[in-house]
Amino acid sequence: MKTATNELLRGLDPAWERGDPAALLPADHAERVVELKGRSPKLAEAYERWAEVFAGATTGAALRERHTAALGRERGVFTLALAKLPEMPLNERRAWGAGLNSIKLGLEGLYKRRSLDLEQAAEASTASGLDVTLPGRKPWVGRRHVLGQIQDELLDLFHGLGYSVYTSPEVESESYNFTKLNFPPDHPARDAHDTYWIGDGRLLRTHTSPGWVRAMEELKPPLRLVFPGRVYRAEQVDASHMDQFHQIDGLFVSRNVSMADLKATLNTFARSILGREVKTRLIPVYFPFVEPGAQLDVACAICGGAGRVTGAAGEGRCPVCAGAGWSELLGAGMVHPNVFKAVGYDPEEVTGFAFGMGLERIAMARYGIPEIRLFLENDLRFLNQF
Ligand code: DAH
Repeated sequence: MKTATNELLRGLDPAWERGDPAALLPADHAERVVELKGRSPKLAEAYERWAEVFAGATTGAALRERHTAALGRERGVFTLALAKLPEMPLNERRAWGAGLNSIKLGLEGLYKRRSLDLEQAAEASTASGLDVTLPGRKPWVGRRHVLGQIQDELLDLFHGLGYSVYTSPEVESESYNFTKLNFPPDHPARDAHDTYWIGDGRLLRTHTSPGWVRAMEELKPPLRLVFPGRVYRAEQVDASHMDQFHQIDGLFVSRNVSMADLKATLNTFARSILGREVKTRLIPVYFPFVEPGAQLDVACAICGGAGRVTGAAGEGRCPVCAGAGWSELLGAGMVHPNVFKAVGYDPEEVTGFAFGMGLERIAMARYGIPEIRLFLENDLRFLNQF
């Protein structure tokens, strides 16, 4: 009898956590302990120890392991004890058999109750979205649009040359966009094909140059300003034309400003964005608001200005500049005396230069972007490359 009781306790692992079985099935547990004590204090003790480790299991797997150790069909300590009943003296067999069956019932009941509790706890923690074993999620971090980056870089550069930023409206009057910039009344840029008119003599600005007029009307010389912003033209949209794009104009007005100052400024600018070695040329071009007007070209990055390349297919026309050797970077010139007069400056007192560039063109040249529409499509596969 004594050895048999020890065997009932032998399967218990001292490392198993213990809990309170009365918290699982209060009435059933209390009654069973009283009943078992009536039969044999040893049986009652065996039941209580096993009941405690069933109640203390914190996972389904731990609970099943304990259940197998107690009640498993082959090696469960209570199963083995029941199998040995026939070897017992008849007088002990009754009390022992009834006690073992009661323990079996009690432990099965605790097992079911504890399984349910653990399952519900597991469901609740998944439902609340908390699975501490999942790998962490990387937070999504946004970035500046590629044109925003280029604009920041250029404004930074001009800031270093002493220029401040002046912003002016995208909805402009005809007078600021054209008339005060010395556009003749019949200039083709005023035509409905080029300009979005919104009625009432108002339009969406076709360039950032109207900013100079506003700045000069507001401020006294000397001025050193840059004018960044979005501009609009009623263009037929294709790979290199959009009906909206971005420009930065620059304006320097003081006494004795010369074409040499303009040239030095533009070369500093070109070398800074395209590299120290870049070859440039300044050629005459007409713009109504400057005289003389000019265009700054940079040597083609592929053929270095030759217009021809020698590749695998032999000698031929450069595919990037189509043989021109040069690509246009910006427009520039000395501010026209009529513009100074329009804003109330005296052209005998002050001189100045101006320049204007398109940001999309600069970004396309720098990164080899073949299609201007990509800038507005907001496709992350494109934007994330910059
Ligand atoms: N506003 C001109 C355009 O959009 C570009 C330009 C040319 C700006 C010459 C200037 C300049 O400041 O001096 O085509």
